[in-house]
Amino acid sequence: MCGIVGYIGPREAYPIVIEGLKRLEYRGYDSAGIALFDGENLKVSKTKGKVVDLEAIAEKNITLSGNVGIGHTRWATHGIPNDVNSHPHVSNSGDLVIIHNGIIENYESIKQELITRGYTFKSDTDTEVLINLIEEVKKQENLKLGKAVQVALNQVIGAYAIAVFDKNKPEEIVVARLGSPLAIGIGDNEDEFFIASDASPFIEYTKNAVYLEDEEMAIIRFHKDIKIRKIKDDSVVDTYVQELQINLEQIEKGGYDHFMLKEIHEQPKAITDTYRGRLLRNEAIIKMAGVEDNMKTFLNANRIIIVACGTSWHAGLVAEYIFEDLARIPVEVEYASEFRYRNPVINENDVLIAISQSGETADTLAAIKLAKSKGAFVFGVCNVVGSSIARESDAGAYTHAGPEIGVASTKAFTTQITVLTLIALRLARAKGTISSSDFRTHLLELEMIPSKVEKALLSDENIQTISNIYKDVDHFLYLGRGYNFPVALEGALKLKEISYIHAEGYPAAEMKHGPIALIDENMPIVVIATKKGHYEKVVSNIQEIKSRKGKIIGIVTEGDTQVRTLADHVIEVPETLESLSPLLTTIPLQLLSYHIAVMLNKNVDQPRNLAKSVTVE
Ligand code: G6P
Repeated sequence: MCGIVGYIGPREAYPIVIEGLKRLEYRGYDSAGIALFDGENLKVSKTKGKVVDLEAIAEKNITLSGNVGIGHTRWATHGIPNDVNSHPHVSNSGDLVIIHNGIIENYESIKQELITRGYTFKSDTDTEVLINLIEEVKKQENLKLGKAVQVALNQVIGAYAIAVFDKNKPEEIVVARLGSPLAIGIGDNEDEFFIASDASPFIEYTKNAVYLEDEEMAIIRFHKDIKIRKIKDDSVVDTYVQELQINLEQIEKGGYDHFMLKEIHEQPKAITDTYRGRLLRNEAIIKMAGVEDNMKTFLNANRIIIVACGTSWHAGLVAEYIFEDLARIPVEVEYASEFRYRNPVINENDVLIAISQSGETADTLAAIKLAKSKGAFVFGVCNVVGSSIARESDAGAYTHAGPEIGVASTKAFTTQITVLTLIALRLARAKGTISSSDFRTHLLELEMIPSKVEKALLSDENIQTISNIYKDVDHFLYLGRGYNFPVALEGALKLKEISYIHAEGYPAAEMKHGPIALIDENMPIVVIATKKGHYEKVVSNIQEIKSRKGKIIGIVTEGDTQVRTLADHVIEVPETLESLSPLLTTIPLQLLSYHIAVMLNKNVDQPRNLAKSVTVE
């Protein structure tokens, strides 16, 4: 949550920071702000709203020159989204300026102490408290900026990625991280530096980046170098420069109206990229180094615990079915936020799989740390390479979905299921719980999924027609059974997230225990009724809905006739194995939510109140 960007070097900072903020807007978009230094003046402009609103205001109110700049796009935690609470925040003296992603938990007591020392506060934010604490420490102990930041950070509790600038020392920016990501881009001639929550703001300028680890800070000096130190004990850390693998094209819309639509259509490629080099059908093997190297641990595990949030949690639920079904390993799936606070029974015989697109979700990260402290083996399934969860895990497997920018997750979900299916199949083979012919069938079918996703995407026009009929309803119900129960949850989540229509996902048979009371002639019910997997039972559920006059949108297997006679609408997906069906049935649900949201004129890529990467608990 919140995106931060900074630049120091020979170029004009303003366009770099503004364009960078636009790329980070997926992280938060309540308000935005920028601070520029032109050698004489520190100029700050900030506003409630989006980066385009900031542009309009900044161009009116300040001169846009300056070779040092920092900017922020906010997802409000402390203080409502308004102009005053927007970042950057300036210290009482007017010398120091900060941008911050995270939460300072003990800000209230620090604030009271600073008030007794004469400090005043304009905003309700924890960040304004932090910059004044840095100022106070700097003044009291007569410290340089870097040292003052370090001393102050040792007094705060919470999470942060910060960038701090002192107008009296314009050749340096101080950055630090604990719990929120921070990347530093190093210009080709090492005479310019970029700062950002992820590398996307600076990939057209440099491919060289340093990712700060938790509890590290860096002093970035124009025309000089970066010095990285541990915040706690001041020890020097070696600078490890990574070469970035992403390119500009991957983070642009490429002709689509929205990132979400682009990402929905990227799924055939993303799934292929995810199993490429791992699924070797001709040799009838699955090769995954992270699993192979830890095979004993997996095979000896009492159980697998899966922790995740949001869409990733739904992928975890699908994985529960497939792990238990194929590999016969007991699985529990937990919301990371519940797991970390409920004193779970966990020990060294457990394997914890953490699923996270961003690899930065605070609750998932905390769940990992808890599991590790109890001796469990942690396996990460992340999309973002080098992310905190990827680094914190003992081993892992990346999904190779490429950057996902739309806040509503799509290709991350299907690629997570792909990776988890590969792991389950590999373990099933090792345990002997799957026959070699079944194993081969799975490999063959999985390999055909991308072309079947292509086919499922062809229903777009039909889905647009259905979307137009139901776009104005207030409630939707999504039903599925077995492997497709989590897909029903995911379909409902997608609709809620981007169209703001209330939607609930339910196991089809559970409908009788509550949701059936909601059904009348105005209620659309999306029922996943594919041929393999409890088909007859689901058809009975459809009959029950029909008797109550509910409007039925059936997600069916190509060529289905039975559901067609009962449903008001059907959307076909190609046939596949039951265990792989979520990879196909989820496609029409993504498109349905997308089209409804577009027809309702909602901001599809940046839905209200949400953020792509939730780095606060
Ligand atoms: C946020 C996003 C969701 C995502 C969830 C978990 O709520 O809006 O799309 O599923 O976080 O994120 P993660 O990066 O851990 O998968």
